[in-house]
Amino acid sequence: MAEDPLALFDAWYTEAKAAEINDPDAMALATATAEAAPSVRMVLLKGVGPEGFTFYTNADSRKGTELQANPKASLLFHWKALRRQVRVEGSVTEVDQAESDAYFATRGRDSQLGAWASDQSRPLDDRSTFEARFEEMKQRFDGQDVPRPPRWTGFRVRPVRIEFWSDRPHRLHERRLFVREGDGWLEGLLYP
Ligand SMILES: Cc1cc2nc3c(=O)[nH]c(=O)nc-3n(C[C@H](O)[C@H](O)[C@H](O)COP(=O)(O)O)c2cc1C
Repeated sequence: MAEDPLALFDAWYTEAKAAEINDPDAMALATATAEAAPSVRMVLLKGVGPEGFTFYTNADSRKGTELQANPKASLLFHWKALRRQVRVEGSVTEVDQAESDAYFATRGRDSQLGAWASDQSRPLDDRSTFEARFEEMKQRFDGQDVPRPPRWTGFRVRPVRIEFWSDRPHRLHERRLFVREGDGWLEGLLYP
């Protein structure tokens, strides 16, 4: 049985948190339309465990729409200070509402209000429209907790492939690929 790639991810992630000057939790998220046209953007990792890698977004955004039509994604972490990358591929599910509520409640009030004010991925006539909506939300929720906007939700990527790349001298980089096999993982080395 191969080493557990999620334990290896945790070890690298811990090192990245100590080494990176900012955003060790930033990851590129690639999605694709039902016709397989790809798109990619950065998001933040908000949870990781045996069940997968979790991030939060607006379900009506471009990424959200693509994930609902084609629930597969690829993630990429690049930790420059460590000269490492981790690549993850798998199927995607929405996290349950109670979990999204619990995470939303931990966010700062301004980000909570921002989530209400933003219509992510929709064209915006100008910045002041967004600012006006933000002010409107401030008043709407004045004196009360800000609830999670119904379309603001978490998605979780359940990995079926995880590849760890690290820089080595003379371009003999190391690549360890883990592929899910039943309840465990198979491991192989790849050419650099
Ligand atoms: C470092 C970084 C982290 C980001 N984290 C998130 C995030 O966690 N969730 C999110 O919805 N957008 C995040 N964004 C903004 C997205 O990259 C993107 O602009 C936005 O979500 C709209 O994407 P879409 O139109 O492809 O759906 C982040 C951007 C950067 C640069």
